[in-house]
Amino acid sequence: MDVFVIEGGRKLAGTLRVNGSKNAALPLLAASLLTDDPVILRDVPDLSDIRNMHRLLGELGVAIESERENNIPTTRLRVVDETEHHARYDIVRTMRASICVLGPMLAKRGQARVSMPGGCAIGQRPVDLHLRGLEALGAIITLEGGDIVARVPQSGRLIGDTVFLGGPFGSTVLGTANVMSAATLAQGTTTIECAACEPEIVDLANMLIGMGAKITGAGSPRITIEGVETLSSIDHCVIPDRIEAGTFMCAAAITNSTLTLTNCPLDAMMSATDRLEAIGVHIDPAHQGTAIDPLRQTCIVSGSESLRPVQITTQPHPGFPTDLQAQFMALLCLAAGNSVITEKIFPERFLHVAELTRMGASIHRHGTTAVISGVKALTGAPVMASDLRASAGLVLAALAARGTTVINRVYHIDRGYEQLEHRLGSVGASIQRLSEDAVAELGLMSE
Ligand code: EPZ
Repeated sequence: MDVFVIEGGRKLAGTLRVNGSKNAALPLLAASLLTDDPVILRDVPDLSDIRNMHRLLGELGVAIESERENNIPTTRLRVVDETEHHARYDIVRTMRASICVLGPMLAKRGQARVSMPGGCAIGQRPVDLHLRGLEALGAIITLEGGDIVARVPQSGRLIGDTVFLGGPFGSTVLGTANVMSAATLAQGTTTIECAACEPEIVDLANMLIGMGAKITGAGSPRITIEGVETLSSIDHCVIPDRIEAGTFMCAAAITNSTLTLTNCPLDAMMSATDRLEAIGVHIDPAHQGTAIDPLRQTCIVSGSESLRPVQITTQPHPGFPTDLQAQFMALLCLAAGNSVITEKIFPERFLHVAELTRMGASIHRHGTTAVISGVKALTGAPVMASDLRASAGLVLAALAARGTTVINRVYHIDRGYEQLEHRLGSVGASIQRLSEDAVAELGLMSE
């Protein structure tokens, strides 16, 4: 297993391009199952989660080719064999987002068998809303040997209906993706009430509309889908990753540096930029030319000598994203005063608290709330990455800390940030990827 060795205290300067969004790309890749025609997806990031989705789709009969065109990664997908319909535990256990294939496979192939995702580091994460939504469209669903086994009703197609997707923590992003994708090929009209409003859902709807689906309301809590008989080919560019962009903004802020971000989805990041500005970070969109795509802007992010404490509550979009909670907590460790973060999406998503504390942070957690009392400085230490975003928080803390931080288990980071060490290195960070053996030889404690 690789580790990151980070020397803190370096100023950053330069330009980073925000890559295509992992969380948009995963359901888009799964949507390739909905058509017999070729699908082209541009700007799919090269991440371990994406490679796992490729592997899964390959097992489900999708031929995939990836290449770079004009330096943008381009993925070509085409279903060549529809006989397989089992997403095996082997793959699903490596990546919960495998559940994305359930709706598309059920709608197109009439049946789907998907291993039930287990718990994960950020909490229990049930899929009951996905199943309830598909059942409302007539799917017959059973649980067999740990697998979700789903088939369409006797009529041979799913049947449109009104589906309520609200749960105890709001709507469900991948549940909305599953039901919306399945409903495109259903007979009649489906209305999803309490749909997730995340930009990744809008991106999926745009791709499906480009394939011939009839969808209105994506981005609002009510999505209407009029089923069609078939979907056809598409050439679609994935939206930039708002969580990666927010992480880079925190990197500028925590090192009191100035970074330029290109391909930045500012329009999808209001809650994060609002909090950054309250903390004292400046974000200036660099308007060039007349036609600005609000999801692909250039902006200059400048830190500040003194960071102000703030309150943050994670919420469904357009509220503050849970996927930036750990990164903002790292930043607030160095604010001048007490900040409060309340986690309302994944109540257990606090594994970074203990590791940040090892670096000198002062954080007190009470249930779903953490009080962060700002300290003058963090100190490098050996720490353990536990999940993707918690690990990103540790990288940020390490960039600002005095001395050397060794982050173990960086495979978590590789799930969601492409070549993070090279990209942060290109703007001045001292960050090295080493094998555990090399770390032991150098005498840097790794566990
Ligand atoms: C997506 O997960 C993202 N994953 C997560 O990104 C993100 O944290 C999450 O949305 C919330 O924004 C991908 O897009 C691949 P949910 P998803 O269903 O869709 C509860 C990252 O770091 N719930 O919207 O699986 C659930 O427990 C990650 O990139 C049910 O109760 O999340 C949670 O409390 C990890 N029943 C809330 O809803 C269900 O059937 C929201 O979860 C489904 C969810």
